[in-house]
Amino acid sequence: MSNVFYASLGKDYRCVDYAKGSYVYDTEGKQYLDCAAGIAVANIGHGVTEVIEAIYEQSKKCSYVYGGTFTNEAKERLSEQIIRLSPEGMSKVFYCSGGSEAVESIGKIARQYQIEAKRPSKYKVISRWQSYHGNTIATLSYGGRPSWREKYDNYLMHMPHIAQCNCYRCPYGLSYPNCKLPCAEELERVIKYEGADTIAAFLIEPIVGTTACATVPPVEYMKRVREICDTYDILFCVDEVITGFGRTGKNFAVDHFGVVPDLISVAKGLGGGYVPIGAVIAHKKVTDAFEAGSKNLMHSFTFAGNPMVCAGASAVLAYTVEHNLVQRAAVEGEIFLKKLKKALAELDIVGDIRGIGMLLGIELVRDQKTKEPFAPALNVSGFVGNYCFEHGLLIASGVIGTADGISGEALQISPTLILTEEEMDFAAKILKEALTEATRRFR
Ligand SMILES: Cc1ncc(COP(=O)(O)O)c(C=O)c1O
Repeated sequence: MSNVFYASLGKDYRCVDYAKGSYVYDTEGKQYLDCAAGIAVANIGHGVTEVIEAIYEQSKKCSYVYGGTFTNEAKERLSEQIIRLSPEGMSKVFYCSGGSEAVESIGKIARQYQIEAKRPSKYKVISRWQSYHGNTIATLSYGGRPSWREKYDNYLMHMPHIAQCNCYRCPYGLSYPNCKLPCAEELERVIKYEGADTIAAFLIEPIVGTTACATVPPVEYMKRVREICDTYDILFCVDEVITGFGRTGKNFAVDHFGVVPDLISVAKGLGGGYVPIGAVIAHKKVTDAFEAGSKNLMHSFTFAGNPMVCAGASAVLAYTVEHNLVQRAAVEGEIFLKKLKKALAELDIVGDIRGIGMLLGIELVRDQKTKEPFAPALNVSGFVGNYCFEHGLLIASGVIGTADGISGEALQISPTLILTEEEMDFAAKILKEALTEATRRFR
């Protein structure tokens, strides 16, 4: 009997042995193609020697010092690399150990920014339904995935939510561009109802990851919500924990829309699975307010920015740039999307195949015409995920709630950014088999 407190206590977990490139191997010698990159983490692939050596070399010198006492060369270097890749005007990086801590930090930095800027009544964060921002109490409060929130509902903070921007399942039943984007205008309506003097920040996943699986809004949406934030002195914050550092074919998802955010949370692709790291990238507008004000951010974590973790992340970013993985994700992602559409679009069970770069999603439906979802209890996406797993393909499945928060299912395809076209063909073949079998069973 295992002493691990697993999330699924009834599940028989296979044990990993090693991983290299886009492949993972279990202790029974079975090979899996990693089309999930863990969970959109292993962007540069597994087992990259340069990264492992960078961590080893730094650890030999010094693994850990407290960030409140010392800075370190790896942290300074990593911050320069991050700012070089970030949108114009981003100026400083706050470190932590993962995505939830990064988003939690966004909330606190935004709150303190408003105090520094002499607007102390502003504290609420508006976010959107059908989003995921992390699993701590504050980040669950920002998030919009009902199934993950419901057990903790009475712990959650009052944080207003607006509808998602999802043209496949428009919450207003309209079609773009005739719709005039009521999903963006709703932000202004809620700001007025809540009181602009209470709102510190608006937080979104610019391209939604695990909750809606790769929904990409129109460019005008992003421009309009940025404009609304400026009108009411609200920070525009983007959660790029899943999209940051190349996954969507640009350094950041927000780069697709030609807008500059005030705060960006990042994690997964920054450490690439080699080190646990998260960060908040802050615009000069934000850091200037701190410089002119208290000069003291009341927020920190014990492991934040330690030399070993920063050396690993610095090597991950250097590898990403040196091997043009961001451009590669743009080009190869388009090819992968086409291949998936060709292989799967005819299957009755497939409602939508979407995404950008190497963040792709397949929405499953009971009826293609009406977009009626399956009953959540059937867990059709879980079935598809298991079939793929047994046939040597890792994808992220079991995403339920894409239609209305309760029902609607999707598969997330978020492979390493080094996936080859032959590997895409293998993935498309297994997915087709899995979805054909699911059609036979569930329709
Ligand atoms: C957009 C987004 N924000 C936050 C998180 C939480 O990150 P972590 O699991 O590292 O705490 C995730 C994780 O999937 C995510 O996708």
